[in-house]
Amino acid sequence: MVQTLEVGLLVNNAGFGLVGSFLQNDLDRELEMLDVNCRAPLILTHELGREMVTRKRGGIIFVSSTSGFISTPYLTHYAASKAYDLYLGEGLWCELIEHGIVVLSLCPGGTRTEFHELAGIKAFAPMSVQPVVSLELRKLGKKPSAIAGWHNRIMIFLERLSARWINTNVAARVIRKRIRSTLE
Ligand SMILES: NC(=O)c1ccc[n+]([C@@H]2O[C@H](COP(=O)([O-])OP(=O)(O)OC[C@H]3O[C@@H](n4cnc5c(N)ncnc54)[C@H](OP(=O)(O)O)[C@@H]3O)[C@@H](O)[C@H]2O)c1
Repeated sequence: MVQTLEVGLLVNNAGFGLVGSFLQNDLDRELEMLDVNCRAPLILTHELGREMVTRKRGGIIFVSSTSGFISTPYLTHYAASKAYDLYLGEGLWCELIEHGIVVLSLCPGGTRTEFHELAGIKAFAPMSVQPVVSLELRKLGKKPSAIAGWHNRIMIFLERLSARWINTNVAARVIRKRIRSTLE
């Protein structure tokens, strides 16, 4: 149905997170998250991307997350879904550039929206929305992916210097502290 629309810029933004112990979370809700965070961007990008290629112009943004860089216990499936968005966007950045389509995977850290309240977790050093959106528009067409906020860029840089299993354990400690009441 969306194939008939002439969309210049597709922003795959809709998404939500589920915190808590993976096996205790409701499977239907996990599947809903997979649909919203991964299947919807896949389908929309496939349908609208073909139209953009025909017109030889267009832009596609995937709103991933800094969680997409690190496997994050107690946010395990959410982080996996955001890694999916990150990789999908970065791969398509390279595939579609020759067709005149610009693609960006945007990776915000904590941002002041309703996200954390709905997920039931406190944000770490949250940014306001405006600089995140400005970065997104500035970096589109220039880079395959962009991390919002200097503190988040430093965090991801340091994580690259460290073993993945260490990062995962550190992430587990941080998250456990923030959702202790949910786990009890
Ligand atoms: N806020 C953060 O700290 C943060 C950090 C990293 C990444 N992100 C990512 O940023 C994106 C936007 O989130 P946000 O921060 O703006 O959170 P938000 O204020 O909670 O907005 C979430 C958006 O996703 C839509 N959505 C949620 N569940 C849905 C469902 N089941 N079906 C259809 N649409 C649904 C909502 O639509 P309705 O308004 O109609 O419910 C809303 O437009 C998400 O992909 C999120 O993963 C956020």
